[in-house]
Amino acid sequence: MALETMEDLLVHELRDLYSAEKQLTKALPRLAKAATNDALIQALSNHLVETKHHVSRLEECFELLGASSRGKKCVGMEGLIKEGVEVLSEADDESVCDAAIISQAQRAEHYEISAYGSARAFALRVGQDEVADILSATLEEESAADELLSTIAEAQVNIEAPVELPDTVAQRAEPARANGRLREADSRQRGNGAQKGSAIKPSTAANRARSTASRQPPRRGLTTH
Ligand SMILES: [Fe+2]
Ligand SMILES: [Fe+2]
Repeated sequence: MALETMEDLLVHELRDLYSAEKQLTKALPRLAKAATNDALIQALSNHLVETKHHVSRLEECFELLGASSRGKKCVGMEGLIKEGVEVLSEADDESVCDAAIISQAQRAEHYEISAYGSARAFALRVGQDEVADILSATLEEESAADELLSTIAEAQVNIEAPVELPDTVAQRAEPARANGRLREADSRQRGNGAQKGSAIKPSTAANRARSTASRQPPRRGLTTH
């Protein structure tokens, strides 16, 4: 399909998203099955339900635009899923596997957030306000899913996963800066301590693991002389 106008580009973006969302409806159950952390399994399962709504919302958009949903397979999402499956097959420890799942799921979320943001801007540009509103609803859910994954990583999974660093260094490294949280949001959260209203707290297992680790002498070979 030749892309000559912003209308063409909007339909192209929506078809790409449609393929990406449909691929995710198959990939999310696989991620949930591989996960062991309860909050993570719940988050992935909830997002699967939302993802099915995202597919229906895109169908609404095609209807409003009088366009077909048929397009090429989204190779971007295909690559992300392929890479995710590869990484999971290499993760031996359960918590490391959970951390890898979050990392892979957030790659997919960020891909979607970027694509929905562009598609919404294109819809507004060509006067398709109703389409833009539909895309906004999905965009909000994608951002919330991404934020929740960051919270689960920082409050539980990254803390539970084993590290090779001496314990004091590992504790300093705990408020992970990665996991998709934007720099601004990260500094806001660290400034306020724990997230307000967050039901997710570091698990007692993680606390136990930390206090056990703190009684151990520093590992040889990791100290500097
Ligand atoms: Fe989605
Ligand atoms: Fe998503």
